[in-house]
Amino acid sequence: STAQIGVTGLAVMGSNLARNFARNGFTVAVHNRTAAKTRALVEEFGHEGDFVAAESAKEFVDALERPRRLIVMVKAGEPTDAVIREFAPLLEPGDVVIDGGNAHFEDTRRRERELRERGIHFVGVGISGGEEGALLGPSIMPGGSPESYDALGPMLERIAAKAADGTPCTSHVGPDGAGHFVKMVHNGIEYADMQLIAEAYHLLRKVAGYSPARIAETFRTWNRGRLDSYLIEITAEVLAHVDTATGKPFVDVVADAAEQKGTGRWTVQTAMDLGVPVSGIAEAVFARAVSGHAGLRAASRGLAGPSAQPLAGEAADAFAAKVEQALYASKIVSYTQGFHQIRAGSEEYGWGIDLGAVASLWRGGCIIRAAFLDRIRAAYDARPDLPGLLADAGFAQEIGAAQDDWRAVVAAAVAGGIPVPAFAASLSYYDALRAERLPAALTQGQRDFFGAHTYRRTDREGSFHTLWSGDRTETTA
Ligand code: 6PG
Repeated sequence: STAQIGVTGLAVMGSNLARNFARNGFTVAVHNRTAAKTRALVEEFGHEGDFVAAESAKEFVDALERPRRLIVMVKAGEPTDAVIREFAPLLEPGDVVIDGGNAHFEDTRRRERELRERGIHFVGVGISGGEEGALLGPSIMPGGSPESYDALGPMLERIAAKAADGTPCTSHVGPDGAGHFVKMVHNGIEYADMQLIAEAYHLLRKVAGYSPARIAETFRTWNRGRLDSYLIEITAEVLAHVDTATGKPFVDVVADAAEQKGTGRWTVQTAMDLGVPVSGIAEAVFARAVSGHAGLRAASRGLAGPSAQPLAGEAADAFAAKVEQALYASKIVSYTQGFHQIRAGSEEYGWGIDLGAVASLWRGGCIIRAAFLDRIRAAYDARPDLPGLLADAGFAQEIGAAQDDWRAVVAAAVAGGIPVPAFAASLSYYDALRAERLPAALTQGQRDFFGAHTYRRTDREGSFHTLWSGDRTETTA
C-alpha cells in the first residue's frame, strides 16, 4: 500500500482530480468500473506523477495507505450509493470515504450516519470549478468530522485553488452535510449571477440597441471594476464569439432553452423548507424553466406588448452605466440571500459554519469567484453575527448609491417589455427589507378573518382574534 489517496470514477472530473493530486506530488491510486479507462488515464498522463492503477475494488483498497482516503467521483444519487455498498465492506474503522460529486446534502447526512456506525468517516465535499478547476485548482468545500479533516485537509489545501493572497480555497466547512449544503448554495448563487448577467445583456441589446460585440466590450470594462469575476469574464468571451458556420453572433444561433442538472432547484426547495427568502435565486431557476417551455412560448408569442423604441445616442451610451449599477446591486442581494440560507442551514443542523470562511474559499477556483467575495469575507470577519450583508455599512452605502439607477433600469425593462425577473425580485427584496411597515399586517387580518388564525399587536403582548362574524370585538386568544 503506497498510495496516499485514491480516486474511483474516472470520468473527466475524477481523472482531472486524480491528476491534480499526482501533479502535486501525491501517489494516487486510480480505479474505474471499466478498467480500460484506468489504463487509458495512466497511459496518457502517467508522466505527470505517481499513479497506481487498480483493476478491482480490492486492489484499489489494498493500494491505499491507512487510514485510507478514497474519493468517489461518480454520478450523484444511486450510483454513489452503489459504490459505497461495494467499498464499505473492504474498509476499516478510521478510513475516510470522500464523495466529491454534487450530492444532495440530505443524502450526505444519511451516508455519513450509516458509515459512522461502522467507524468509517464519510466526507461530502463540494468541488467547484468545472473540469479545468478540478485539474488546476478547484474551490473545495469539505464537510464531515473534524478528525477526517485532519487526515484530508492538508492534501486538499495543496490541490485547491489559491486566492490572490495565497490562501488555499478550502477549509473545513462543518460536520456531515455542511460541505454539500454550501456547494448547493454556491450553485444557487451561480444560477442567480448567470441570470442577472443574462438580464443585463438582454437589456443592453433590446432597450439600448447594443450589438453582442459591443456588449462583450462593455462586460470587459465591467470586469476591470467591482464586478470583476469569472462569470463576467466568460460572458464577454461567449458574446464576442462568432459562429463559423453562419457568421452570426454565436449567441444568436444557440437554442434559447436553458437546462439544469438540479442543484439550483435544490437550493430553492431547501430555502422553502428553511423559510429563507431567496427570491433572486428562485427567479433564476424559474427563468430557466420558462425558457424551456417551447410550446407555451410559441402559443404566447402573439400576445400584446409595448411599442417602445430602443434608446439612441447619448441615452443609449449612458444606459450601460445604469445597468452596471443594477447588476451590482442585484448581485449584492443574491449573495445576501445565499448567505442567509447558509446561516439558516447552519443553525438548523448545528453546523457552526463560519460565513467569512465560506466567502474566503469561494474567492478562487469556483464558478462564482469574484473580487467581491473579499468584501463579503471582510464584512463577516469584522462582524461574525452580521444579521445580513445589507447590514454591513459598506454594502449598504454601495447599494444605496446604486438604487436610483437600479429603479430606472427595472422601470425601463418594464416599459420596454423585457423580462427582468431577477433584477426586479432583488429590488423588491431590498425594498421589503427597507420598509417601515409591510402589508403582512393585512395578511394577518385576512387570516384571522377567514380562519381565526389570530394575530399579534404592535402595542401589546399576546395573541388576539377579532369576532369577524359577530360584533367584531377583539378577544384574547
Ligand atoms: C461548479 C458548477 C458545477 C455544476 C454545473 C452545471 O461549481 O463547478 O456548479 O458543479 O454542476 O455548473 O450546473 P447546471 O447544469 O445545473 O447548470
